[in-house]
Amino acid sequence: MVQRAIASRLVPSSPQQALLDVRGLEVSFSGLKVVDGLDLTLMPGEVRVLIGANGAGKTTTMDLISGKTKPTGGTILFKGRNITHLPPHEIARAGIGRKFQIPSVFKDLTVTENMQVALCCSPSVFANLRQCLQRKDQERISTILHQVGLSHLSREPACNLSHGQTQWLEIGMVLAQSPDLVLLDEPTAGMTVQETRKTAEIINALRGKHTILVVEHDMTFVRDICHIITVMHQGRKLAEGTIEAIESNPEVLEVYLGSGGVIHA
Ligand SMILES: Nc1ncnc2c1ncn2[C@@H]1O[C@H](COP(=O)(O)OP(=O)(O)O)[C@@H](O)[C@H]1O
Ligand SMILES: [Mg+2]
Repeated sequence: MVQRAIASRLVPSSPQQALLDVRGLEVSFSGLKVVDGLDLTLMPGEVRVLIGANGAGKTTTMDLISGKTKPTGGTILFKGRNITHLPPHEIARAGIGRKFQIPSVFKDLTVTENMQVALCCSPSVFANLRQCLQRKDQERISTILHQVGLSHLSREPACNLSHGQTQWLEIGMVLAQSPDLVLLDEPTAGMTVQETRKTAEIINALRGKHTILVVEHDMTFVRDICHIITVMHQGRKLAEGTIEAIESNPEVLEVYLGSGGVIHA
């Protein structure tokens, strides 16, 4: 409240700045435009879902935002800073965290130890963890494990976790880096219905604390977490709006019906 009052005094009438502002983003592979003039604007604290048929360019868009792939055109502004050509580690340091489709936790370490590694940024620091970690870090780990619903498994080796729990641990490891923007590529892939529902709860609890961009196919899940959806088709933005607007958009229906009816998956 106080912070908001101070902020409003500093910038009395300026509209809220977008956290992420992607303009005319393009990338080509072997002459084929995989992302083709994409505009995408995320406001702070927003949860946005990116949907589209397989091959629409969703993962590539995340690759471009996180610096894994370099764009051949367009700009990416993050917190007003041009990050378009920064290397991935600088983009991560600027505040963009990413969870990949395939989890990369350390199976032999416990849940807490995995979080400690994430907090210390590099596995090579693990040998010095006791020196590296302070009490506030331990408290932070407890807070994040609570957020991702793994407090009761903190001492469990990661190899004993279910598929869903492993995904939540990896979300926790991304959160340990305190990212402003979290990129989640198909976080519910392979999850049970219960695990998917719990993932929606986790994301809903993070709303407002982090800005989240999620690639997802499961429309029940999308309905649970999202207000605004961006639909991609052949590298372009086909539509953007509320789930009701998207589900009744004839162009979206035609594209999805033509490509196997993902909207009804
Ligand atoms: N590094 C790459 N080299 C060549 N083609 C690629 C590369 N990355 C992605 N593609 C192609 O770009 C298209 C979009 O892929 P992707 O972004 O993974 O789609 P989505 O995540 O929407 O299913 C696909 O046809 C894919 O084969
Ligand atoms: Mg993909």
